[in-house]
Amino acid sequence: MWLPSLTVLASMLVSFTPSIRAYSFHDELMNPLSPRTAIPYDILAKLTPKLSPTAKILLPSSPLWPNASRRWNELSRPTYSVIIQVTTERDISESVRYASRYKIPFFAFSQTHGSYFGLERFQDGIGISLSSLSRKIDLDKSGKWATIGGGMKSKDVIDYLWKRGKQTTTGGCGCVGAVSPALGGGHGWFQGQYGLMADQVLEFRVVLADGEVAVVSDKKHKDLFWAMRGAGHNFGVVSEMRYKVYDVKRPKWSVQSFIFKSEKLEEVYEYAGKRLNGKGDARLLMWGTWYWNKTLDAEKPVIQFQWIYNGPLAELKKLSNDTHALKADVYTSLEVDYPKLSSSMGYGADQYACQTDGQGHRLLRGIDVDQYDVKDLRKWYDAFAAMLIAEPAFETSFCILEGYSTQAVQAVPDNSTAYALRGERLLFAPAIFWQKGNATLDEQAGKWSKEMYLAASGSTNKKTYVNYAHGDEPVEALYGYEPWRLEKLRKVKKQYDPQGKFGFFNPVNPVNEKHRDM
Ligand SMILES: Cc1cc2nc3c(=O)[nH]c(=O)nc-3n(C[C@H](O)[C@H](O)[C@H](O)COP(=O)(O)OP(=O)(O)OC[C@H]3O[C@@H](n4cnc5c(N)ncnc54)[C@H](O)[C@@H]3O)c2cc1C
Ligand SMILES: *[C@@H]1O[C@H](CO)[C@@H](O)[C@H](O)[C@H]1NC(C)=O
Ligand SMILES: *[C@@H]1O[C@H](CO)[C@@H](O)[C@H](O)[C@H]1NC(C)=O
Ligand SMILES: *[C@@H]1O[C@H](CO)[C@@H](O)[C@H](O)[C@H]1NC(C)=O
Ligand SMILES: *[C@@H]1O[C@H](CO)[C@@H](O)[C@H](O)[C@H]1NC(C)=O
Ligand SMILES: *[C@@H]1O[C@H](CO)[C@@H](O)[C@H](O)[C@H]1NC(C)=O
Repeated sequence: MWLPSLTVLASMLVSFTPSIRAYSFHDELMNPLSPRTAIPYDILAKLTPKLSPTAKILLPSSPLWPNASRRWNELSRPTYSVIIQVTTERDISESVRYASRYKIPFFAFSQTHGSYFGLERFQDGIGISLSSLSRKIDLDKSGKWATIGGGMKSKDVIDYLWKRGKQTTTGGCGCVGAVSPALGGGHGWFQGQYGLMADQVLEFRVVLADGEVAVVSDKKHKDLFWAMRGAGHNFGVVSEMRYKVYDVKRPKWSVQSFIFKSEKLEEVYEYAGKRLNGKGDARLLMWGTWYWNKTLDAEKPVIQFQWIYNGPLAELKKLSNDTHALKADVYTSLEVDYPKLSSSMGYGADQYACQTDGQGHRLLRGIDVDQYDVKDLRKWYDAFAAMLIAEPAFETSFCILEGYSTQAVQAVPDNSTAYALRGERLLFAPAIFWQKGNATLDEQAGKWSKEMYLAASGSTNKKTYVNYAHGDEPVEALYGYEPWRLEKLRKVKKQYDPQGKFGFFNPVNPVNEKHRDM
């Protein structure tokens, strides 16, 4: 039995997956000492014929494995025994069916930036890698929407549309998926003008837990459509979506940066709070970053305040002329075409904050609030600065104060999607960066991050954008404190994923108390 299947296997390896060597099968899947025995030894023989010829089934011995399994955050990551690089929707269905048949957990991923700590619960299962899906992006003849594949990167969507005189809300960071953020809401530079990423979706094609494909919109599977725009990771794998796009009317974006020493924190955020009030301009965004630049301040991290504006710099200067009264230590400005905006901010796909280098231990959190509370910000800053100064290993860490404009976001009825945070205008995010390989640092980072979270979040009903969640927030913080929200989500969950197969990324039914101890 063993030998013939190896022969079958070898011929398949040659014809379909030349990167896999036959012996790796025996070693990795049949070795009784290996923890990976859950995967049947004949997975290639059984599954390969069902997949498209361009799909690949990778084992850990494959030279492609390190790249295929790499994640933005290497701490608390999912671990796989096999990675299937799917190229068609049918490959996704067949992979899901195969995993179900053998009761093997599976986990789909695209650009690997998800850094929810519960991902470590996924061990030795089948990873379904979506980034090779052959469906990329197509602009419809109407010019009103595009079809976007489930494995695409935000930057590729931006560049494709730009060439055709179009634009839409995507992740502000070029490196993140074009679909995955939308499932949790999806923030981006255009949200004040067009709404969240989720608000652009007209239709999802979703591979459900049984491998069947559902076409999900406000006409069919309405409750699922509601749930997938805010809690979408819980229900299936999106192979593609129909997504609204818009004409480029104002190609230019401008950015002004004001850098202050930390003594000015109160003054800066009192000013920012005043400018946040009122109706405001949907094209004007307010951004902040705290980071350590020893040239500017040898002792403490600095406060950078930025205006980001969809329009020429000359216009922005008029809108922001009172900012100069704060007397920044350093002032710079720039004007770029839209596709260059993210990289001009340091969030380009290959820049430090975004890049997936395989070395990164990272701890990201989010705290959503409605306004700048200067006292909380001071506590947060002090907690941030204390550890940064004490431990050089963390010195490239930073905090982001995201003030995307929210006009079009708040124009969408609050109950029309599962996204529960339309009322919050600000998203604060401590981002701790350090190198792999030191358990003391890992532990320190965890404590530090929690301290910053507690300092910054103030109010009783803390809220956190699901895609920035760490995993120890109460589930209501992500999906809403109004009881009807979780009730509805759980009803849809029961209907579409009764066995909880999509439960590794911010589950609507938390698995244990460890992941909700705050
Ligand atoms: C550097 C950085 C920048 C970020 N910038 C932004 C930003 O500008 N705007 C914003 O809103 N968020 C942003 N985020 C948060 C981001 O939304 C999440 O990290 C998101 O999960 C990333 O998607 P991904 O495809 O890169 O990650 P992955 O880890 O590949 O995916 C995350 C999860 O999404 C699910 N998933 C992925 N693809 C699919 C699919 N096709 N169908 C169904 N489920 C799928 C899976 O459950 C997976 O666990 C950022 C995060 C980082 C680390
Ligand atoms: C590594 O993987 C990414 C997708 O995650 C892919 O775009 C890239 O081409 C791969 N690089 C190599 C060298 O295989
Ligand atoms: C630090 O600030 C100086 C002065 O503004 C600038 O030239 C330098 O590029 C900054 N360094 C970093 C790493 O941001
Ligand atoms: C800002 O511009 C307005 C209108 O152009 C002007 O009245 C005001 O004096 C300016 N304020 C500052 C601080 O320059
Ligand atoms: C949202 O609330 C409005 C007003 O209460 C109601 O008419 C509508 O049906 C609700 N929509 C959904 C999707 O629940
Ligand atoms: C881990 O980091 C701590 C704090 O910087 C340091 O004291 C310790 O020597 C490091 N341990 C190892 C094994 O590198």
